[in-house]
Amino acid sequence: MTISTHPILDVKQVSKSFRGLKAVNGVSLKMLPGQICSVIGPNGAGKTTLFNLISGILPHDEGHIDFNGASTSGLRTSQFASLGIGRTFQNLALFKHGTVVENLLIGRHIHLRSSVLESLFYLGRPAKEEIAAREKVEQIIEFLEIEELRDKTVSTLSYGQQKRVELGRALACEPKLLLLDEIVAGMNREEKEDIARFTLDIRDEFGMAVLMIEHDMQVVMDLSDYIYVLNFGTLIAEGTPAQVAANPAVLQAYLGDQGGGHV
Ligand SMILES: Nc1ncnc2c1ncn2[C@@H]1O[C@H](COP(=O)(O)OP(=O)(O)OP(=O)(O)O)[C@@H](O)[C@H]1O
Ligand SMILES: [Mg+2]
Repeated sequence: MTISTHPILDVKQVSKSFRGLKAVNGVSLKMLPGQICSVIGPNGAGKTTLFNLISGILPHDEGHIDFNGASTSGLRTSQFASLGIGRTFQNLALFKHGTVVENLLIGRHIHLRSSVLESLFYLGRPAKEEIAAREKVEQIIEFLEIEELRDKTVSTLSYGQQKRVELGRALACEPKLLLLDEIVAGMNREEKEDIARFTLDIRDEFGMAVLMIEHDMQVVMDLSDYIYVLNFGTLIAEGTPAQVAANPAVLQAYLGDQGGGHV
């Protein structure tokens, strides 16, 4: 695959504070189209906050974020999905009483329609758009191998299955950049391997760039082209998996994380 040298995401010296706590402190990060990158770091390091800044859930206090060569400053949260930034949430963002198909349709339409109810009941949408949405959703169901779950209510699914639906919801609006926040947390080894395979296919078949927050070091080392390491809101290391694994500052950050419990 030819990889363009123009970054799809360019985060420059970005900071965010919560009542005096600098959750993200002067972080810079760059991603090229077709790359899979990871953000790692102990609990509370600022990883999810960084994702919230990139995906427009929160405004940043300082610095700049460019997506596809244009600044994202001043955009409304709802505009980030139509721009091409999709994400999954650490705590899942599914409509639990809806079926899998309904959730994926909402994911497809949430960036086009203002009302979730309208998305859910398919009101006033041109038939052509509706047919295209349903085709896309069926494609995703097949891709994620969840055919047997399609008409099940989300609340009846296992945690691992719900995470897979959450991934489908994010894929449904066909982002150019997909942010995955601890997608394999709480999964068994087999489920993790499935998600790892899907992540590679998302890059290779759909051409998306993927930025993931991940505590599972095997997944991080196997999938990442490049890794960023955060600790106390600050970038303490970056590099290829081999470079990061050999960096003493990274080891120190994790050894010092007595309260976090896991890497
Ligand atoms: N909305 C918020 N209001 C106040 N403080 C916040 C908010 N969001 C995050 N924080 C604080 O910012 C710091 C970074 O939190 P964040 O959730 O980004 O960490 P994380 O690296 O994603 O951790 P984890 O691995 O546990 O998910 C923490 O101290 C957290 O308590
Ligand atoms: Mg987090």
